[in-house]
Amino acid sequence: MPNAMRPAMHPDLAEVLFSGEQIQRRVRSLAGEIKAAYGDGEFTIVSLINGAVMFTADLMREIDNPVRLDCIRVSSYGHQTKSIGTPQIVHSLTLDIRQRHVLLIDDILDTGKTLQLVSRLIQDLSPASLRTCVLLDKKGRREVPIEANFVGFEIPDKFVIGYGLDFAERYRNLPCIGVLRPDRQTTAGWVSG
Ligand code: IMP
Ligand code: MG
Repeated sequence: MPNAMRPAMHPDLAEVLFSGEQIQRRVRSLAGEIKAAYGDGEFTIVSLINGAVMFTADLMREIDNPVRLDCIRVSSYGHQTKSIGTPQIVHSLTLDIRQRHVLLIDDILDTGKTLQLVSRLIQDLSPASLRTCVLLDKKGRREVPIEANFVGFEIPDKFVIGYGLDFAERYRNLPCIGVLRPDRQTTAGWVSG
């Protein structure tokens, strides 16, 4: 794209890893991989909110299988850029997933603690099957042995924002995914509320 037509990079980004167009292309091909695994059958999508909202919404629209949707909210990082302690379930499932095929979706696989916690919760509810899908995978940061069945992009150990991913609840609405500038990894000076 000529420079004049390129949208300006958000000033709090150090670099853009994936543009909105690159994300959409990968989401479409991921949907193809998922369709190949499920055939025409029905499955239940379980999305980890808030981070996976954009990814889930875009991915679902590329899939024409009959699907059901439910969400789980897991406690977040707070105002940190590194996982601290153990994640907790803040809000659990509403749908019955017993004997159902479940696709668990998250924005990013980091230490693996969140996906492990939620996978165990789902397994305990006796689904017919469980597969996992993450848009981003920070492979180098894993603390528990877990991998996702479907991965959008592998990324280095950098704190990223945009396309649903936040720092202290900000930046989820950026259409691209980029690295947050180190000097912006603080909430000092923010208006609260
Ligand atoms: P894990 O439990 O350490 O694997 O962390 C997974 C969760 O941490 C994700 O659902 C994200 O909400 C959050 N997270 C991890 N890395 C990042 C990042 O680089 N930017 C924003 N959120 C992140
Ligand atoms: Mg999350």
